[in-house]
Amino acid sequence: MRPRARRIVKPLTARGYALVRPALVRLKLDRRVKYLYEALYWRRRKADEHVLGNDWYEPLFTTRVGLDREAYAGQRVLDIGCGPRGSLEWADHAARRVGVDPLVPVYRRLGIDDHAMEYVAAPAEQLPFPDASFDIVTSINSLDHVDDLEVTIDEIGRVLAPGGLLLVVVEVGHAPTIAEPHRLGWDLAARFADGFEVEREEHLEFLTDEPGVGASLRRRVPFDHDDPRERSATLHLQLRRRAPGAVAAHETASSETTSAPAATT
Ligand SMILES: C[S@@+](CC[C@H](N)C(=O)[O-])C[C@H]1O[C@@H](n2cnc3c(N)ncnc32)[C@H](O)[C@@H]1O
Repeated sequence: MRPRARRIVKPLTARGYALVRPALVRLKLDRRVKYLYEALYWRRRKADEHVLGNDWYEPLFTTRVGLDREAYAGQRVLDIGCGPRGSLEWADHAARRVGVDPLVPVYRRLGIDDHAMEYVAAPAEQLPFPDASFDIVTSINSLDHVDDLEVTIDEIGRVLAPGGLLLVVVEVGHAPTIAEPHRLGWDLAARFADGFEVEREEHLEFLTDEPGVGASLRRRVPFDHDDPRERSATLHLQLRRRAPGAVAAHETASSETTSAPAATT
């Protein structure tokens, strides 16, 4: 969809959805409608693009978020809400690269079996992996898509090994839509406070001529917190999994070695 059309259509669908959502939730149809909508979206993308490209993921997972490609060497990597494009194909030096997404059965029909990575069909709320199975967990443009954010946070904390890295890039500040049932805010890092330390936090504007988290990270316009308009924005977080029982850095008043969050912009 063109940026101008998207700016008009997205708020309209969000408003329409706000009206019908209570009924869908009452009838327990909201998830089914969400998955149907996402499946249709990706089928349409496949029809338009023929081959679903994935060239931009390497910079998105590395240079655009200040990480080295080497940070993934020999690591067990899990990408949550991975989509059907082969988000981790570039990481051929990782020990393991797994994409998890409830729509994997649909994505198999779109060609994911040709990708050099593992796919597992599951929602983020029920990750079918033992505790501490991964060294890096990523979620690009997917945390606002999950059904239950609190359960998802617990599951991420469970499967990520102590000392492991969680990379989140997500759109915040948008009204709930069919596929994105949560309006996330700048408090997202605080919701991970129990088991994680914030190592990096960045607030970026969504660009009107090129909406999307990828363009936000590429063009890096700092979010203007003095501008009171409600609007979509991009939140980039890097969180480090604390060892079980370790005390949060902000709770140790005497600690001089806290990994203070990077200045939010
Ligand atoms: C906007 S797509 C992002 C895909 C990919 N991460 C990317 O950036 O190209 C959102 C993805 O979240 C997935 N999703 C929806 N509900 C989910 C859930 N409960 N757990 C995990 N992923 C979910 C969707 O199926 C979809 O593939």
